[in-house]
Amino acid sequence: MKDGSQTNEHWGSRLGVVLAVSGSAVGLGNFIRFPGQATLHGGGAFMIPYLISLLIVAIPLASAEWALGRHGGRRGRHSPIGIYYEAGGRKPICGICGGLMIFTAYVIDMYYLVVESWCLVYALQYLGGLLKPIGLGFSIIPTIEPGLKLGSAEGYASAFDSITGSASDGSLFGSSTSIIVALVALCTFMNFWLIYRGISKGIERFCKMVAPLILLCSFFIVIRVLTLGNPTGEQGQSFLDGLGFMWNPQNLDKTLLDMDVWLAATSQIFFSTSICTSAVCTYTSYVKSKQDIALSSVTATMANEFCEVALGGLMIIPPAIMFLGAAAADNIGSSFSLGFVVLPNVFGEMPMGQFFGFLFFTLLFFSAITSSISQLQPAVAFLKETFRWSRQTSVLVAAVLVCAGTSFVCWFTAQFAALDTFDFWSANFTPFLCAIVQTFIISHIWGLENLKSELDRGAIVKLPSGLGKLIKYASLPYLVLIFGAWLFQNFGERVESLKTSRSAQISTLFLATIVVVLFVVSLATTLRWKKEEKEQISSNKEIQE
Ligand code: PFF
Repeated sequence: MKDGSQTNEHWGSRLGVVLAVSGSAVGLGNFIRFPGQATLHGGGAFMIPYLISLLIVAIPLASAEWALGRHGGRRGRHSPIGIYYEAGGRKPICGICGGLMIFTAYVIDMYYLVVESWCLVYALQYLGGLLKPIGLGFSIIPTIEPGLKLGSAEGYASAFDSITGSASDGSLFGSSTSIIVALVALCTFMNFWLIYRGISKGIERFCKMVAPLILLCSFFIVIRVLTLGNPTGEQGQSFLDGLGFMWNPQNLDKTLLDMDVWLAATSQIFFSTSICTSAVCTYTSYVKSKQDIALSSVTATMANEFCEVALGGLMIIPPAIMFLGAAAADNIGSSFSLGFVVLPNVFGEMPMGQFFGFLFFTLLFFSAITSSISQLQPAVAFLKETFRWSRQTSVLVAAVLVCAGTSFVCWFTAQFAALDTFDFWSANFTPFLCAIVQTFIISHIWGLENLKSELDRGAIVKLPSGLGKLIKYASLPYLVLIFGAWLFQNFGERVESLKTSRSAQISTLFLATIVVVLFVVSLATTLRWKKEEKEQISSNKEIQE
């Protein structure tokens, strides 16, 4: 069914869509969240649920989501509400589930933009330090030295506190740090500008431009890490000790019985590959109808895993252990500390650390933009499709709404109350629900036959025919089991923790309002589509008679 919101937009080439989906996947999740989560949840032991989830969930579901997206796109649907409506045999309930899925990517974007701007702040601080020897040094935050060479672990932690305003609510709006709020606004504007330019001229062109830059920066940093030797000469601080922290599973019994670890590992896979967040199906709905999606989906997933495990895993944990010892990694308080506190400390100790610090945070900044634009596109497509607005109006409204959420995160900064609440619901909790609904719709409503024929359409290499069965008989039970066990073991504790923070409660209320609005709009839209279909059928009948 086509309607007035139908778009003629398409990716310009196969490489373009692979780079855009990989760009969505490779981001802060690979270089900051993954090493942080692995360190917080037992290092090597975390990798076991992580790899199991990769094999059972991420690889099959990524291909299936590409298929769902293109199937919807071929019918003129580009937002998750339309895509799931089509896949679910035009049942309003499936459309509503798709509409609710937008929550995940959109809410992630509200805090992702803030973290993106921290990366820009760090990159600029290092640039100021790099230019210092020739007299051009500058610091965008007057209370922090250019170059972030701060000498002690406390110095780096307090610089991070100033940059994020984590000491008290509203402190970012003070005179010395208001530049950070301005940078958040700048990042938001850049993102919307790219979305406004469109799929091919905005998103695809930008991803093609920055992909070589991201690869080049990572290449230099990896070479630096591999050539560090044993910089302090201390026992237990060699490169192999660093690698061992990530790959030697220890305390297996304790770690593997904790459902929080399984939830964290599987959510990390969703966050990192961008699947089950509504971003991938939206992007792939713009793939041309006879273009390959089988090989492309596997290529994009593998490119992301390479960047996460091989590059992200190598760039952060091993140098932290080599310079600061295992204690530094053991004592991190949150998954951000590793990237924004421990790593700058490492750059402070490393020869040419200013240069590598600049390179690392520039890499993070650009990879974050290619991800954050993909978090916005589902909401823009949703507004276009549900309200039949033009792209310009949809982009404008989506921008205003995102700014509301981002302002929340910028204001309630004390102990990251808003950011943590947004992150928990959008990046840990709802991707699971989305994944369960998605696998259920694929297995029991859309059907494995349809999945196979969509994947085979235009395929350069056909995927194994058992993929659908893997989703139906392994991914779905696995997701239900992990999520059910986690709800039973840990959900109550999580709700209790909400009671202690007023900012977390306000943030939860804000998120609940988004869910209600999405539900009402999705319900109204799918009912309208149903009504239009009925009218269409009866007018066709009248013409025949
Ligand atoms: N995959 C991105 C990262 O690893 O940083 C984050 C992300 C992108 C999450 C798109 C959700 C999303 F819809």
